[in-house]
Amino acid sequence: MKYNFDQIIDRRGTNAIKYDKMDFFFGRHDLQPLWVADMDFATPDFILEALKQRLSHPILGYTKRPQSFYKSYIDWAKKRYQWSVSNKWLEFSPGVVGALSIAILSLTNEGDKIIIQPPVYHPFFDAITGNKRQLVKNPLLKDKNGIYQMDFNALEKLIDSQTKMIIISNPHNPVGRVWNKTDLEKLGKLAIKYNLIILSDDIHADFIYSPHQYTPIIKLSKEIAQHSIIITSPSKTFNIAGLSTSIAIIPNEDYRKNFQKKMHDMHLFLGNIFGNIAFETAYQKGENWLNEVLKYLKENINFVQDYLNTHIPTIKTAAPEGTFLMWLDFSETGLSHNVIKERLLNEAKLALNDGKSFGDNGDKHFRLNIATPRKNLETALEKLKIFA
Ligand SMILES: Cc1ncc(COP(=O)(O)O)c(C=O)c1O
Repeated sequence: MKYNFDQIIDRRGTNAIKYDKMDFFFGRHDLQPLWVADMDFATPDFILEALKQRLSHPILGYTKRPQSFYKSYIDWAKKRYQWSVSNKWLEFSPGVVGALSIAILSLTNEGDKIIIQPPVYHPFFDAITGNKRQLVKNPLLKDKNGIYQMDFNALEKLIDSQTKMIIISNPHNPVGRVWNKTDLEKLGKLAIKYNLIILSDDIHADFIYSPHQYTPIIKLSKEIAQHSIIITSPSKTFNIAGLSTSIAIIPNEDYRKNFQKKMHDMHLFLGNIFGNIAFETAYQKGENWLNEVLKYLKENINFVQDYLNTHIPTIKTAAPEGTFLMWLDFSETGLSHNVIKERLLNEAKLALNDGKSFGDNGDKHFRLNIATPRKNLETALEKLKIFA
């Protein structure tokens, strides 16, 4: 391995949300933070170098995005996902969650119904209700092995004339499913049948563990592509989330024009110099680094699973197929959600994401971020032994 992911880097005092906003969210500052979904690994050296190089010029004025910015993603999609993306489908957006809201605002109307499938990334809820659309929940089903599935029977029954959009997370934060071709084809068919838009948040798309494969919903067919939008970014993949740079991939021309207009009306299209450079450099030079980090993350996942199975069998978790997040199920501790939460906070002193923040069916679940040096995981797991 060229890169050292075991290196512990002190992030305190850098305004890192994971560390320096812990007090605000958890009411204590002395917790081990394994919550916010960024990585405790150094941003790759080649990205930092590109940023430093730009800083050697003394003016940081208004900047356009060169064609090479878009081409970097087109080449990445081709190489890693054997997917041909057209240049004209690509729109810049300053962050994935922002892009979700822009898509909602530009493609649906107040009062329209939008479906999500909890437990799911909590800003999906706010993007819908905050923009005065009706939130419709189609909870995922958990099978006996702890693997979550989309409930297609229930889904179709929820769709009516007011339903305009389904938002998915692929791979799915927090449960780690990588939606496969069959899942996405079923969704695509529903979208065609009922004239819906599938808004697919694929920010975790580069974190996929063999034998699973990332399927971009747009790749499935021309017809499904006309009903689908993917929002993605190298921000999770290369630990550059602080640079707020992402893209929306929109093959449908009408959707694209509406999206562009909203971006224009809100004057959000400029972006920032460093985000542009980091995005392009990441996709141009990031392959080896990504392969190495994936290997390390998979070892972390195995480590957590082995440790829990051996020492804390009351905490169950299925290996994520994608993402660097693990969804821990505390049901077999026999404790209530609030007691588990209280003990995590005051006894184990761990900052994990509360499962209920992802929806009601996150009861007795907590999300663990494993993108951290293994030593940190070891320390955290030791503390979790209070639940054994
Ligand atoms: C599924 C998902 N979407 C979006 C985001 C955040 O994206 P951004 O910071 O670009 O708004 C996250 C971060 O955790 C995420 O997990």
